[in-house]
Amino acid sequence: MSKITAPKIAPGEAPKTYRVKNFGCQMNVYDGERMGEMLDGQGLSAAPDGEDADLVVLNTCHIRERAAEKIYSDIGRMTKGKTQEKAPMIAVAGCVAQAEGEEIMKRAPSVSMVVGPQAYHRLPDMLEKAVKGGRAADTDMPAIAKFSELPARKRRSPTAFLTVQEGCDKFCTYCVVPYTRGAEISRPFGDLMKEARGLVETGAREITLLGQNVNAWSGPDEAGVHQGLDGLIRELAKIPELQRIRYMTSHPNDFTPGLIAAHADVDKLMPFLHLPVQAGADRVLKAMNRNHSAGGYLRLLEQMRAARPDIALSGDFIVGFPGETEAEFEETLQLVDEVRYAQAYSFKYSPRPGTPAATMDNQIPRDVMDDRLQRLQARINRDQRAFNDATVGKVCDVLIERKGKHEGQWLGKSPWLQSVWLDERSGGSAALGDMVQVEIVEAGPNSVQGVARAAAHA
Ligand code: SAH
Ligand code: SF4
Ligand code: F3S
Repeated sequence: MSKITAPKIAPGEAPKTYRVKNFGCQMNVYDGERMGEMLDGQGLSAAPDGEDADLVVLNTCHIRERAAEKIYSDIGRMTKGKTQEKAPMIAVAGCVAQAEGEEIMKRAPSVSMVVGPQAYHRLPDMLEKAVKGGRAADTDMPAIAKFSELPARKRRSPTAFLTVQEGCDKFCTYCVVPYTRGAEISRPFGDLMKEARGLVETGAREITLLGQNVNAWSGPDEAGVHQGLDGLIRELAKIPELQRIRYMTSHPNDFTPGLIAAHADVDKLMPFLHLPVQAGADRVLKAMNRNHSAGGYLRLLEQMRAARPDIALSGDFIVGFPGETEAEFEETLQLVDEVRYAQAYSFKYSPRPGTPAATMDNQIPRDVMDDRLQRLQARINRDQRAFNDATVGKVCDVLIERKGKHEGQWLGKSPWLQSVWLDERSGGSAALGDMVQVEIVEAGPNSVQGVARAAAHA
């Protein structure tokens, strides 16, 4: 077997099918879709499920060590045991490409293209070079140039992501995002309205606005008046066929009274808030450079609940940040007890190269982190189950997002972002993109079961 040093495509022969494999956050999902649209524009088509693709784009995440290491094993799997003619052409995109582009080019000769999250609008040129047998890397960060160079949206789905804000200036001491995604920047209001209208025209009924600090979005509207995220949301809510608006991820320090008020009076803004706090002890929050206290975070949630009493809360946690004591960790547990999250994500601290926390004293042993993670997750699961239980008997709208595994079964989302299973035989009929009125009849740990009452509006 020959060592693979170039893609299977013979020089001059272009790949015909592609697959984008997304890792990491929703912003990567959005970028992955846009890369797909660009490749469509180059005459490629998405490889059908289960079939090998001629070109594989690994859209990678660098947030934790394991996420980053995955890409090398994935490359290995795709090329192992395959002759040069059988292995796919490989492009590495996303945050690992940004952080370790040069290393990837050295370590993985089978990779033809390395493209950072701010440079993927140049993918077609890179592909052209790769087709000719060359290799190309582009990890430039031209301030937000990519959006104006991407083709128009053409995906069809009842739910859509829309990146409104990119990058981060917060520099939490554990986090790679400011390095992989660059400086914080807001996309122009008019471009976002245009993209949103395009998404709605192709069938989107729910749009989730995305950004690493999405609530820091700001900019002049079409009349030149300065707006915050609430202004954008209010304008989006005027699009008649758009029925639901969500946004993530927010930072506690970027909330404005206007955005809180929007939760009280914009019906289309869903009662769900993902607001990471990371830890419950102020000393740890300070060492993390979060610039907010646990008390400040709790007061903010109180204001949110006052504006929208049924709001479902979600968060992110890191356990075992360098120096975190048992007592400090218990403050995280107390905070969870106080908030009662509808869902939350929790992670073991992972030292990331180049971040200040990676070289801090008192790195926490793995077994201590394992133990803390388990205890935290037990509480989060308890609260998630309680939240789901409390929705039993409620009647709410469910947006049908996809078919279930069984005949006549559908999966949709409640306003509180719960996954809702529906069975056609239990009453009513449904179709993709329908908003169905549903009674929640049973709760599970990760989803609920509903019975359709009537198709509310298609
Ligand atoms: N911009 C968002 C989310 C960033 S990444 C925010 O500020 O909240 C998503 C989550 O990954 C973070 O909220 C954090 O909980 C986790 N995370 C980030 N860096 C990490 C690290 N080095 N180790 C473990 N978890 C980390
Ligand atoms: Fe990372 Fe902090 Fe920025 Fe979130 S706010 S992306 S955790 S640096
Ligand atoms: Fe990962 Fe980059 Fe998102 S590091 S979490 S893919 S911004």
